Amino acid sequence: MEFFASKGHTIIPSASLIPRDTDASTLFTTAGMHPLVPYLLGQEHPGGKRVANVQKCVRTGDIDDVGDNRHCTFFEMMGNWSFGDYFKKEAIEWSFEFLTDPKWLGLDKNRLYVTVFKGENGIPRDEEAISIWKKTFENAGMNVAVAGEDEIINGDVRIIPLGIDDNFWIAGATGPCGGDTEMFYDMRPEEGKLEGRFTDLVDSFRIMEVWNNVFMEFNKTAEGKYEKLSKPNVDTGMGVERTLAVIKGEYTVFETELFKPLFEKIAEISGNDYGDSEETKKAFRIIADHVRASVFMLADGVTPLNTGAGYVLRRLIRRAVRWGKVLGIEKDFTVSVAEIVIQKFGDFYPELKKQRETIFAELKKEEEKFRKTLENGLRQFNKLSVAAISGKDAFDLYQTYGFPLELTIELAKENGIVVDEKEFDGELKKHQELSRTASAGMFKGGLQDSGQETARLHTAAHLLLASLRKVLGNHVFQKGSNITPERLRLDFSHPEKVTPNQLSEVENIVNAAIEAELEVISNEMTLQRAKEIGAMGVFESKYGEKVTVYSIVADDARIVSMEICGGPHAKNTRELGHFKIQKEEASSSGVRRIKAILE
Ligand code: ALA
Repeated sequence: MEFFASKGHTIIPSASLIPRDTDASTLFTTAGMHPLVPYLLGQEHPGGKRVANVQKCVRTGDIDDVGDNRHCTFFEMMGNWSFGDYFKKEAIEWSFEFLTDPKWLGLDKNRLYVTVFKGENGIPRDEEAISIWKKTFENAGMNVAVAGEDEIINGDVRIIPLGIDDNFWIAGATGPCGGDTEMFYDMRPEEGKLEGRFTDLVDSFRIMEVWNNVFMEFNKTAEGKYEKLSKPNVDTGMGVERTLAVIKGEYTVFETELFKPLFEKIAEISGNDYGDSEETKKAFRIIADHVRASVFMLADGVTPLNTGAGYVLRRLIRRAVRWGKVLGIEKDFTVSVAEIVIQKFGDFYPELKKQRETIFAELKKEEEKFRKTLENGLRQFNKLSVAAISGKDAFDLYQTYGFPLELTIELAKENGIVVDEKEFDGELKKHQELSRTASAGMFKGGLQDSGQETARLHTAAHLLLASLRKVLGNHVFQKGSNITPERLRLDFSHPEKVTPNQLSEVENIVNAAIEAELEVISNEMTLQRAKEIGAMGVFESKYGEKVTVYSIVADDARIVSMEICGGPHAKNTRELGHFKIQKEEASSSGVRRIKAILE
């Protein structure tokens, strides 16, 4: 911040992790530019045309990568911005100065490599950035060459032109955007001269990105057009964690002073050392990352829920507890780790200290609740005690009861049982594909669990149909349905408009079933048998001889819903959150249509 203040920038505070009401495109603030979008589109910033800050960010698209050496869900992003003021020359020269000048970071310029936009989609190659970089390196006494289409680094190659997927930046689908130049640092010079294909060097962690300078020249419209901005901007982002790793010569962001005190706490609680094995390393990293992210989210007003930002928070806390189990932690511990997070970060982010009690209370509540869920999972596991555990069962334990595969394998080993890991991987892939397809189009900083959203809405549709029959009568049958990750639609036979009173009665019945936390049970049987026991369903030939019947049974054994269905479904109605009907309308003659959501 001192460096950029010396270059005429106003230092501004971090905005909240929760985007403004007017910005519904992401669940969290995902980059320093995110809260600054209005100014990047031309509005005047009170701090002037040059600002810089350290912004709290969350990206959950990478959640499964946490545990490697450089991915975090929560991170701090340093950035400097020009609102229609300086452009490529100053941005690049200052980046080089800040990175390499001994007065600032003092990094070795010989370990620096940069990518630039090679031109695509009708936007030309960034010759200007290439020539500025060339001059900058040459002025520092270095020979420098530009990589070809093969992206191979050898000889004097330091500048690598890449396409739109790598070197063009936009937050979400529309808005201010442009080509960028990214700076990478050689993490293992002891391995000799750096040579090879750019992507391979990134994948093997030989080089790591430390800074991104975006040259915002366009506004991408909803129609997909790139309109030139009247004045171009600069938007840069540099992760505090990675920067620290690089200047301390650490190979991973987790072995920096940001995480060390958290690791010490986890070691004390678990009796393991971070360095015991690759597994303990991974567990320590995930727990530290997830608790840190949870603390910051809670401080900004997120609470654990079944949808939206609250759902991401819930997942983080649960994953932390699960990985705690891998380390053998059986008692509640997230609060003790959170305490260290607040100690470590509370001076710079006073909201952590202010919200301390709320943070602790919410963590405690969620952890206790999840431990109960895990206990049920253990019971479920014990039911599976046969000679072998199928991948499907292992996946079910993972998906529904939050049991990581490692835990299943460990328990199985103790019982002399083997687990079909290959089948598990297959199930996981299938699920991920479902998730990915369903969430296509959602910004990658957002919720990634659309597969689960769909499952919850399927279950809600069953409860809705059962409740409609209860309120309107047994002439109600399903005539069609359509479920997206966002909402459900159910068409059903009924001769007239459903009154507002009837609709609210239906909503109440569904929500009562959700609040009763009822298990959703699935049974395979023949179609004939399903008919005999009175399961609902569209009894047409599209069902094979064997069908799955999903039943929701109340505590007094009364059947709330019993339907033939292909799934997927929630395992317990409590996963549904709150059910809300959005619309009731005619679909066709004698058929009504309801659209509803879970919130
Ligand atoms: N907005 C750019 C990024 O997040 C700087 O990489």
